[in-house]
Amino acid sequence: MKTTASQQRPPQRETFSEWLVERTGWKGLTYPVPAHANKIWYLLGGISFVGFLILFATGIYMAQFYNAQPSEARQSVVYLITGVPLGELIRSIHFWTAQIVTATVILHFLRILFTAAYKKPRELNWFIGLGLLLVTFGAVYTGSALKYDQEGVEALQHATDAGGLMGALGAFFSSEFSRSVSLLTRFFTVHTSILPLAFAALIGIHIYLINQHGISPKVDADATAHNTKGEGESRFDVHLRSMAGYGLLLFAIVLILGLFFPAPLGQPGIPGEELTKPWWMFVWLFPAEAAWGAWALIIIPSILAGLLFLVPIVDRSPYLSPLKRKWVLILAGIILLVIIVSGVVATLQPVSGHLK
Ligand code: HEM
Repeated sequence: MKTTASQQRPPQRETFSEWLVERTGWKGLTYPVPAHANKIWYLLGGISFVGFLILFATGIYMAQFYNAQPSEARQSVVYLITGVPLGELIRSIHFWTAQIVTATVILHFLRILFTAAYKKPRELNWFIGLGLLLVTFGAVYTGSALKYDQEGVEALQHATDAGGLMGALGAFFSSEFSRSVSLLTRFFTVHTSILPLAFAALIGIHIYLINQHGISPKVDADATAHNTKGEGESRFDVHLRSMAGYGLLLFAIVLILGLFFPAPLGQPGIPGEELTKPWWMFVWLFPAEAAWGAWALIIIPSILAGLLFLVPIVDRSPYLSPLKRKWVLILAGIILLVIIVSGVVATLQPVSGHLK
């Protein structure tokens, strides 16, 4: 049988990138996505995701040196800062990433709310997103208590006070819940295993649903919500590259912040004293707590959570344009304004004892 010239040519050596593309199935990620998916407003979820990866990596390192016994906790943080290689930098990167990720998650949430990305068929993903919002705030709250300085002791005390008002529902936050393990140690477990596991489960479903529905359509005068899977002028691998680019930028920012502005550690905590204010993401609750006590910490977040849960149930028209969803946006705008004004008032207000 005759052989052709091309059959006689020795096989060409595969380049490393060809090898990698074939082994990873990267070609499967080149499906179309709408061009607006590469705009920063549609990348905030992806940036938050990269931030969570930085938090996991730095958190795992710190967990090797942190001691969650109340009598040892703050001193183990001092050891982490002064005696552990790169300890202070890693802790500061964790601290700054937590601040920035909280901001990007809030902005991502506002983008979804204002572009009506929760409408059919994306309602389920809105509920999953609310779970992720809870995980984010839960992680910041439990994390702020772990260093067990004055701020940490007060964070635990507020949890105990609010838990005490909730009866059986708040039992986890009382010292009687477990005679063998302190609340601080249980916060450590929540912070390092329960919330990361919840995050992994929720983000898995979140990404699966985004993949099923495609990104929500661009908002213009007559746009209506629909499944966009398979539509678009750009490609998913291009979107992933933009996400990785912003992720690298985030890493550079937290590295610089960590190098020049180390994470703070306050004086050892005095139980029963109130000398600090909560972090910025919780500080807006401070005036309400000053007026109504620990009940404010239960009632206001519950009302907000209830309202957010109702959003896709109440706002069911298919239209995305802000002009066709005035009431939702006006109500959301008013609530946002009240939160911002409360935050500013709280920042100016003196620290007043409102612990029991
Ligand atoms: C830990 C926090 C979160 C992460 C890492 C995350 C991640 C993502 C990613 C990567 C996307 C793709 C588009 C984009 O980035 O804008 C997305 C879309 C989406 N997210 Fe999140 N998310 C988080 C929290 C939330 C929250 C708090 C909500 C709302 C309650 C939410 C609701 C949605 C919805 C409905 C979509 C589909 C948006 C669309 O199709 O335009 N997510 N999320």
